[in-house]
Amino acid sequence: MASCPASLPRLAPPSAHPQSHGPSRRRLPLRARLAAGLAAMLLAGPAAAAPDPALLGDRQAFIADLLGQMTLDEKIGQLRLISIGPDMSRERIANEIAAGRIGGTFNSVVPADNRAMQNAAVQRSRLKIPIFFAYDVVHGHRTIFPIGPGQASSWNMQAIERGARVAAIEASADSLDMTFAPMVDIARDPRWGRTSEGFGEDPYLVSRIARAMVRGYQGDATSRRDSIMASVKHFALYGAVEGGRDYNVVDMSPMRMYQDYLPPYRAAIDAGAGGVMVALNSINGVPASADTWLLQDLLRRDWRFGGVAVSDHGAIKELIRHGVARDDREAAKLAIRAGVEMSMADELYLNELPGLVKSGEVPIADIDRAVRNILGAKYDMGLFHDPYLRIGRAADDPPDLYAESRLHRADARALARESLVLLENRNRTLPLRKNAILALVGPLADSPVDIMGSWSAAGRGTNPVTLRQGMEAAMRGQGRLLYARGANVTDDPALVEYLNQLNWDTKEIVQDPRPPAEMIAEAVAAARRADVVVAAVGESRGMSHESSSRTTLDIPASQRALLAALKATGKPLVLVLMNGRPLDLREASATADALLETWFSGTEGGNAIADVLFGDYNPSGKLPISFPRSIGQIPTYYNHPRVGRPFTEGKPGNYTSQYFEEKTGPLYPFGYGLSYTSFSLGDLALSSPVMARGGRIGARITVKNTGDRAGATVVQLYVRDESASVVRAVKELKNFQKISLEPGEERIVHFDIVEDDLKFFNARLEHVAEPGAFEVQIGLNSQDVERARFELH
Ligand code: NOJ
Repeated sequence: MASCPASLPRLAPPSAHPQSHGPSRRRLPLRARLAAGLAAMLLAGPAAAAPDPALLGDRQAFIADLLGQMTLDEKIGQLRLISIGPDMSRERIANEIAAGRIGGTFNSVVPADNRAMQNAAVQRSRLKIPIFFAYDVVHGHRTIFPIGPGQASSWNMQAIERGARVAAIEASADSLDMTFAPMVDIARDPRWGRTSEGFGEDPYLVSRIARAMVRGYQGDATSRRDSIMASVKHFALYGAVEGGRDYNVVDMSPMRMYQDYLPPYRAAIDAGAGGVMVALNSINGVPASADTWLLQDLLRRDWRFGGVAVSDHGAIKELIRHGVARDDREAAKLAIRAGVEMSMADELYLNELPGLVKSGEVPIADIDRAVRNILGAKYDMGLFHDPYLRIGRAADDPPDLYAESRLHRADARALARESLVLLENRNRTLPLRKNAILALVGPLADSPVDIMGSWSAAGRGTNPVTLRQGMEAAMRGQGRLLYARGANVTDDPALVEYLNQLNWDTKEIVQDPRPPAEMIAEAVAAARRADVVVAAVGESRGMSHESSSRTTLDIPASQRALLAALKATGKPLVLVLMNGRPLDLREASATADALLETWFSGTEGGNAIADVLFGDYNPSGKLPISFPRSIGQIPTYYNHPRVGRPFTEGKPGNYTSQYFEEKTGPLYPFGYGLSYTSFSLGDLALSSPVMARGGRIGARITVKNTGDRAGATVVQLYVRDESASVVRAVKELKNFQKISLEPGEERIVHFDIVEDDLKFFNARLEHVAEPGAFEVQIGLNSQDVERARFELH
């Protein structure tokens, strides 16, 4: 039990705290803030039982000193991360914190609430150790940015970093210290609903994004007031759950793990991510939460991770259902011994670790190691220097947390525009004229909740600009916009019920009660009066979320019926797709004249989509994940290993690797996306036919804008290892540049290729480049490429 001896003086109630923060607190130098913060803590009790301010300059000594003062129960209390929700009253939470039984919380985003909890920690607990406040700030906090695949479609690392920076600024202003992001699970099976949270199928692109996001969240230092600590997730391999079914097992060869799935986590850690969230899945028979190899040998020893490892929600208890622990006690023992340091939303550590330590089954060294890392994270977040660093003082609390002035709309619109991918544009249907009569239909055309996407953090349903609003604003004073909903997202009552039960405060799906035929008739009537029809169709946000795996990638039947009726009007048909994962678009692509993939594009989504529809922004997005032709074709990732009998386009014949009743290859490949202008590629030239060990060669290619509009495109560099000691991928992305060109302009794009770009994990898991031939490919998507060869000597 955490002790709070009756003889220790107690501090005054919470409201007494703020003297330590003068109005100019935010401008005070670190040293002064440090003294102010500690003064607040020390007011409460004797120096012997509290962080020692004299040691604050020395992280290690400070933590060692503090650890030395802690009882076993206080140590175990630090390992507990609770979810703030209806389960526990505020009073009970404050008492638990005061008793030293909680190390951090998540899901509370209101500064006043968090202040009260921090008061309990630094004024009422014996050791005055601050708690931290975390949240799932995944694609924005109050301003919602496009979901992961959308951000990845921009291939713009500065814009992605800026999105994470904005999220950190907003989240820290709401008193948050940590986010459970970035989510960098490689996703190659779009049946998995959480495809919507990550950045696609490619290890190189996702690794680049992982670094950008960590830099954005953490800024120059995690101790800055406007930084939040990044906890990369879900470690590891969660995206490879069998069959794309959420929470399922992962079974994977070590080579594939190292080559394709682990690099993004490593990239986030190398970029300084202070936290890691352990995945819910098992890997090759061992649940990640009990995997000593994963959490110690790989993460700590090989990757030198020095931060904190947090469990996922209830994961420690789930070790029982995985069938590797008999009971709570064994589950707690397995997890702490493996290296899970904070237990999220279960009480197993709290209840079981005291006994396990006393019986000697869990060495105190394991507990101390965990506490050291948790205290280290708090130190790095600046909380020992000032427990109220991000909470601030009550007098400065924003009068309206939801005020428009707290949003960063311009940043959101900029990234959202770049996240849109033009998949088809027959007869130059797009861009549209603003002075036209347009019919806008579809269940997603005016749905603010859906456009925010699945982890909309503190985003509110009243903030987003819907497509309808965006188009109306763009057309104001010019043409006319006729709107009809046309269909519900789905007419399947079981689906609606399921989606409404997902873990949200809002009722997600609000059905239009009219009969489908009546809604379609209304939409068709609008279409008949219009020059062009724009249909916003796809998934509700809950359909692409945690626990939302699907057996089909179809646009639901209610919407397909609407599309068929619209097609029958003969009017040009533009589909604006909103979805969190690749869909099966064979039918849609045959039906529509133009197809724009918009993912879930966030707070400014409607404006951004309107920018593209009307040509105020020329689309430049490129897919970060292949779109299969059908669900049976999965997986369709572009960088698949070579086979002995490859299918060759244009050379029909049997006994090759293909599905015989369907065209081979994805419908839309990785890296693909059109523009309103056209680009041509010249010949690819290498600076030398030979690369020496440790050397480099240059690759250059001329890119020309051959159309009549300025536009941006992504020049992609792939490498193919022609022969090696193990089977290698058909090609792998190694670099890219996003460039903008005026009409008629041409530019020579240069890439350096170095030996590291040729390395792979061999059968002994050594990271090596083997001598021999390599093919360099450069293209504006992964399929249509220019080629040149060189040898590594
Ligand atoms: C469970 C999810 O798997 C994880 O991504 C999330 O961070 C936690 N819940 C907390 O919300």
